[in-house]
This record gives sequence, structure tokens and C-alpha cells, in this order.
Amino acid sequence: MSSAEKINKILVIGSGTMGHGIVEVAAIAGYKVYMADINDEILKNALEKIKWSITKLYNKGSLRESVDSLMSRISTVVNVDSEGNFTEEFKNVVKEADMFIEAIPERLDIKQNLFRFIDENRKKDTIMATNTSSLPITEIASATSSPELVVGMHFFNPPPLMPLVEIIKGDKTSDATVSTVYEIAKKFGKQPVVVKKDVPGFIVNRVLARFLNTACWLAYKGKGSVLEIDSSIRYNLGFPMGAFELADYSGIDVFYYVNKAITERGFKMVHCPLFEEKFKSKELGMKSGKGFYEYPKPGAYVRPQIPKDLANKIDPVLLIAPAVNEGAWLLENEVASKEDIDKAVMLGLGWPKGLFEFADSYGIDNVNKALRSLKEMIGSEEYNPVKLLVDMESQGLLGRKSSKGFYEYKKVEEVSKKTLIIRYEKPIAWIVLNRPNKLNAISPETIKELYETLDELELNEDVRVIILTGSGRAFSAGADVTAFAGITPMQAAIFSKKFQELTLKMQYYAKPIIVAINGYTLGGGLEISMSGDIRIASETALFGQPEINLGFIPGAGGTQRLPRLVGRGQSKTIIFTGDNITAREALGMKLVDRVVPPERLEQEARELALKIASKPPLALMAAKLSIEQGLESNIWAGLNLEASLFGLLFSTEDVIEGVTAFLEKRKPSFKGK
Ligand code: COA
Repeated sequence: MSSAEKINKILVIGSGTMGHGIVEVAAIAGYKVYMADINDEILKNALEKIKWSITKLYNKGSLRESVDSLMSRISTVVNVDSEGNFTEEFKNVVKEADMFIEAIPERLDIKQNLFRFIDENRKKDTIMATNTSSLPITEIASATSSPELVVGMHFFNPPPLMPLVEIIKGDKTSDATVSTVYEIAKKFGKQPVVVKKDVPGFIVNRVLARFLNTACWLAYKGKGSVLEIDSSIRYNLGFPMGAFELADYSGIDVFYYVNKAITERGFKMVHCPLFEEKFKSKELGMKSGKGFYEYPKPGAYVRPQIPKDLANKIDPVLLIAPAVNEGAWLLENEVASKEDIDKAVMLGLGWPKGLFEFADSYGIDNVNKALRSLKEMIGSEEYNPVKLLVDMESQGLLGRKSSKGFYEYKKVEEVSKKTLIIRYEKPIAWIVLNRPNKLNAISPETIKELYETLDELELNEDVRVIILTGSGRAFSAGADVTAFAGITPMQAAIFSKKFQELTLKMQYYAKPIIVAINGYTLGGGLEISMSGDIRIASETALFGQPEINLGFIPGAGGTQRLPRLVGRGQSKTIIFTGDNITAREALGMKLVDRVVPPERLEQEARELALKIASKPPLALMAAKLSIEQGLESNIWAGLNLEASLFGLLFSTEDVIEGVTAFLEKRKPSFKGK
């Protein structure tokens, strides 16, 4: 039994936003959870919030267990009495718990006091995790007799929805503790990344601080307006929100305090005065009705209008380069692996690509150039490119254009259409749905471009397997709803038929199509994915046919292909409710064929495609046709087709090559002839 398997009862101390969110996550994962806080009133409130959130998830169909059954696994306990002493009741729970997660206010003295008490009363070998975002794990651990058991477990807000957890090693945390907490985070359904050194701000807050601070300096120095900067971030970088939009949304005070806390701990950053000005004048963003944008009702979010045509004023490299520099610093100081850093920014900040992927696409030389010009403009040392970036440039490791940067790239030829990118990686061709700002919503133009692209690739002899995927955080969130405004029933039916032609083309396409499902796969997105041959999904993908919520039904084959894959009952549940299902659930009902961690998706799809591409193309086509046609007819027709195709293949050169290679004990080389 691994150490993680011995953990059944988890005590979460603190029931604020993070605390009760963590309790909810642990309960959903099947743990018995104790939630502690300073009085019954606060705990009652937190329980209500958990119940509200669980009910919402249940009604959306995201939970298999009833609300009551889940709630029955959560107990509450008051941890301090009116004089501030720990209660007997709390002590008893501490004695029983198999693991602790602390989520109390960010004050070192209070945390150390709590950890000291837990340490004195806990069972042997119990892990003590802290959800701190700004305090050193090492200093919290110093209050205990077993610092090797103290670890950072930093969730993101709100914990039930955000997939990322940073696991932070204090100076004395043991590897065993880190790997147990890693396993627990996985059991919580989260995506953990390991922060191997206890640096202020860990990964996400450091990168975010650089990014926001630079955007702010650019505005402060008059290089662009708030709108121009946010427009470049949204439309060039493809981030879910602009920097000022995000600051307003989360609260300018929140960033002000986090940045202050991490700089006090040694993170070197010269703060942009604009944030402080806003903070001091209490223009905190959405919650106060005004920040960088205005909100008619304080506390009620209205998404700022950010015109796309302003996006070209600010070079996006200027905005991303300081974040890349920070990522490179983390890498050269062995704080985290490059895969974990990229995963952290994608899952923690919703960025469409990892930092190093951005750097490789823009070119390391351009990143360094941008940093130097920022240094000149702002004057602060933090903009000097770190040694790793300087070395990479001098060694010619410039990213995609030199085939090697942070990652290695096969020489690829790329063609961009309006809504797609086609990447030739012979013998594979990637088709990337590329409207990340619109979650790759499928417009009539996308359908046309996909159809034409598939046509071209079908005849291209250098391409043997297609991989279809999406850029950013979605595979595709479905048909572009804006295209439906004001259309007549006839026009809708014609749209449906056009879309069906595309999915039918995929089903009977002459070459295998692998679908690499990277995020939201809803409506038409799911219908496209179901028409491919093999579906590999990222653990973070979400699936659904939400059309019913808009008053209509799936129109690109969803009512036909979904029942064929998952059966009548499941397909009706999905279509009637419009609920989302997770990748794991999709795997359970055979809607996808494999689920992999997000950072492995591209490589797994590529490896499978390369394997299939080494097989005889004509036999692949025959196998696909025989399976697809056979499933749609009866077994006799299917068997006849199989026998005919089997016979026909014996007239091909590839069969001679296959048999000869077998006899000569060598690898065959198939030509598709
Ligand atoms: N059609 C057109 N635009 C879409 C879209 C769709 N199907 N799905 C997402 N978008 C756009 C949003 O309008 C938004 O654009 P904006 O930035 O200009 O406002 C952008 O993509 C990002 O989406 P947003 O809703 O802000 O992201 P989110 O993370 O809050 O929510 C979803 C993600 C998938 C839950 C949500 O976008 C959604 O429900 N989409 C529609 C799904 C659907 O009904 N599909 C079936 C259509 S038939």
C-alpha cells in the first residue's frame, strides 16, 4: 500500500474560500473530511457554501454521488475557544486525522502556532500541508519536530474548478512527502506540479507578477493605452483576459498584496506605480465599481469591451518576454521542470500555450531583444535576460525557427488559413482548429476550410495520418452561436447538412484521423471528434452536447454517432441534459479511447500517429472502410466487404513487401501501392 492509500481522513483547517473549496474537493474525491475554524457560525456558513456548490455540480451532472451522501462525509470542528486556546474537540480530531491541509490567514505566527499544536498531537508520519501562497514552507515547518513532513499544497481559486495544484518542497521536506501529496492531488482529480525549491511566489504568482507589472509599466510609460495592451494580450497572445481586465476581475488589492508579500521575501521587482495609485484611491476593480475599467454595479461583473482592431499597437513579445525570463530563471535554478512550468501557466492562468512554447514560437532572440528594450524603457535590472536565455541565443537555440529552443521541433511546414493551421510533420499532418479567442467555435468558414483541407490532404502522398486538435483551452466549444442569429429554419437545415457532410467525410476518409482532444469539446466540437477514428483526450478535457440549452439539438451527426459510441441511455442523458462530462467519465463510456495528462497529449498523439503511419496505407484504408461500413450494415454485408477488400489487397505491392520483409526478418517499408 502506498503512503497515499493509507490516507482516509483529512483535516482541513480554515474554512474560507480556499479552505471550504479544498474540503469540497476532498469530499468529492471520497475522503472523510474534517473542516475546522474558529466558530460554529463560520463553519455553518462554509458548509452552506459547499452544499450550494456540490448541488450545482450535481445538477450539472458532474457528480455521480448524491449531495447528501457527499455532505455526510464532512464534519466540522471548532478549533479555538474564546481565549484563543485550541479546543479539546480539535485535539481529538488532530489525533485521528491521516493528513492535514492548512488554509488559515497568511500570518506566519498564527500558522506556526497551529503547526506546533498539530505536530504535538498528531499520529506518527502524518503529512502537514499548507495552502499558503506567500509564506515560506520552510519557516512554517520550523515550528514542527518533523519538517520533512511539512509541504506546500497551493490550490487555485476556486479549488473545485481550478485544476492546478503547486506542490512545494520546503528546505527539509522529504521526497516521500512530496510524492504522497502528489498522489493525493491526483486523487483529488487535480493536476499537480512540483516546485522543488521554496521560492517566493512559487511558479504561477512569480510569472503573473512579471506579466502584470510589465503590462502596467507599458501603460504607465505611455507606450500604449490600457485598451491597446489588453487587446494585444487577448487577440495576439490569446489569453482569456487582458492584464488590466484580470487585475480588475480579481481585485487590484489582491495583486498589490501578493506582489508586496513576495517582494518582501526577496523577489526582485520594481513595482509599477499605477497599481499602487489605483490601490490607494480604492479603485480596486469590479468589486469597487471602478478599476482600469468601469462597472455599473460594484461587484457585478460586466466583461469590458476590448476592440480587436487595437491589437496591433503593442508587440505581444514585449508583454510575454518578462514572464519567459522568469520561467527561464525558475528553470536554470532548478525550481521546476520546463514541462511543469508550462503546465502551471496553462492550467493556473488559462494561457493557451506554455511560456517556453511561446518563447520558442516568437524566437529566443526576439524575447531577449524585447527584454533589452524593456530594460532601457523601465530601467529595472529584472529585465536583463537571464543567463539561460543569453546562452540559448548565442548557441543558436532560437526556438521553432532553428528547430530547437526550449523544446525540439521537427522541421515543419505550416500553412495558416483563417480558422485553421495545417502543420506538416511528414508523414503526419496536424490540423489545428485555430480560433482560440472563441474557443475554436466552428463557423461556416471553419467547416469549409476543414472540408477543403481534408480534400487536399487525402491526395497528398506524403501524409499518411491526420491529427486533429485545437489551439488554446478548447478543442472546440461547438458551432459558432453567433452564426445562428436570425437564420431561418431552412438555412439552419442547410447548415446542418453542410456540417454533416464534413463529419461523414471524416468517417469515410481514406486516411486514419486521430483526434487529440485538448479541452472543451462541446456541441459541434464533440460531433467532429466523434467522426475521427481514435480519440485521445487530455485529463482536463470536458465533453457535452449543450444544444438543448439553446433550444435545439445536435445537428452534425450527434444524435447518430453519440448513441453508437455510448449507447441509447447515456447518449440521451447527455443530449437531454446538456451536461458536461469529464475526460475520465468519457473514457468510462467509451466516448474517448485514451486519457492522458495534458502535457503528454501532443506526444501521445504523435507517437500513435507515427506508429500507424508506418503501416500499409491501402490496408489501413481497407480496414477503416470495412469497420465503418460493417457497423452501419449487417454482418453479411460487412463480411462480404471484408473478404473483397482482403482479396484486393493481395494485388498490391505492399502485401509483397510485407510478406517478404517478414521472411527476410526486416522492417517493411510500405509505399501505398
Ligand atoms: N460560439 C461562439 N462563441 C463562443 C462559443 C460558441 N459556441 N463558445 C465560446 N465562445 C466565445 C465566447 O463568446 C467568448 O467570446 P468573447 O471573449 O468575445 O466574449 C470566448 O469564446 C471565450 O468563452 P467564455 O464563455 O468567455 O469562456 P468560459 O471559460 O467562461 O466558458 C464555455 C467556456 C465553453 C463553458 C462557454 O464558452 C460556453 O458555454 N460556450 C458555448 C458552448 C455551446 O453552447 N456550444 C454549443 C453551440 S451549438
